[in-house]
Amino acid sequence: MSESSHSEGITMSGGGVYSLATLGARHVIDAATPLVTDAIHSLPEASLAAGFTLSDMGTADAGTSLTMVAQAIEAARTRRPGIPVTIVYSDQPRNDFNALVANVHGLGPFETYLDRFDDVFPLVSGTSFYARIMPPESVHIGFSATAMHWLSAKICNISNHVQAVGAEGEELAAFRAQAHADWRRILHHRAAELKPGGKLVLINFARDEQGRYLGNTGGVNMFDTFNRIWLDFVAQNRITREEYQNMTLPQYYNTVEEFCAPLQDPDDPVYQAGLRLEHIDTRIVKCPFAESFAEHGDAARFADEYIPTIRTWNESIYYSGLSSARPEAERRQIIEDYYATYRDLVRTAPAGHGMDYVHAYMVISKQA
Ligand SMILES: C[S@@+](CC[C@H](N)C(=O)[O-])C[C@H]1O[C@@H](n2cnc3c(N)ncnc32)[C@H](O)[C@@H]1O
Repeated sequence: MSESSHSEGITMSGGGVYSLATLGARHVIDAATPLVTDAIHSLPEASLAAGFTLSDMGTADAGTSLTMVAQAIEAARTRRPGIPVTIVYSDQPRNDFNALVANVHGLGPFETYLDRFDDVFPLVSGTSFYARIMPPESVHIGFSATAMHWLSAKICNISNHVQAVGAEGEELAAFRAQAHADWRRILHHRAAELKPGGKLVLINFARDEQGRYLGNTGGVNMFDTFNRIWLDFVAQNRITREEYQNMTLPQYYNTVEEFCAPLQDPDDPVYQAGLRLEHIDTRIVKCPFAESFAEHGDAARFADEYIPTIRTWNESIYYSGLSSARPEAERRQIIEDYYATYRDLVRTAPAGHGMDYVHAYMVISKQA
């Protein structure tokens, strides 16, 4: 049986829009870069004899990680001057791989490390992180940012919200169970891929010790706003309740405890596969658009910059929730109306809106 499951309907904005619209995601990766370079400096000397391999999982169009990868190459070359470097970029099969290749090869809007370094080999894989992406014991550093909150499957629709942060009772329990199984599955595959002494640097959306999560750090709760606008569309008969429920996002934000569990329980297959937690902390990276709004004070500009960053990651799920019996143009119009409503809301009352990122930054090692 093929294990290459990937959630239906998930695609980030393509055509290179993703990295341009998600400045915050780049800041998150920049903040993680010292963890990556420290991990490279701690790799066993013998493991670097023939080359160095970094795997960037859930990379989207690779634009947000270009600087991190450049610094990883520098760190590997500090360990071994001239060492050949392989960078394996992977994402789910519906990802826009053309944009990825364009960015890595300098055909997009970003500078590429390929202009600075020789003997660097970027490779691309359409294999999900819920499957084995790489051969056994072939990876020195497994990296992933802001991707592993996407579950392998939507276990059920949520009746009263679009995301598990608003789920209750049995629905919440079902999402939690799915997320726990998925996290173990991700780690188990990575354990096989890592070289002994290799490391994972995983930057995952989290619910932090104070209950904060993406877009919910004290201001207007972003997910409740998503939900409220769709419920208004239901009340106005612009979409059906069934369509609303089909829009459930197949995501879950683990707590620190949930992330740590399989890495600290000696009976867990992940622990038994040799993975150990070296470091975990939670951090907030402020919404860059809300921050710049605090300086320029132009609500229309804020709304015009902020809504596209949200749209990059939830549009495809909302679109696929709409009935296929509707003509495509009608489905497109509903989606346009939704984001226009959200934009007008932010323009009219901008205070408190924003998508602060809340992540767990983890370093996990495979026993040498
Ligand atoms: C928000 S983007 C993050 C992109 C980039 N890592 C960053 O931090 O800017 C999430 C990415 O995860 C990818 N993704 C979701 N489920 C996946 C899966 N099962 N396997 C691989 N990638 C997946 C999506 O396609 C998307 O490109």
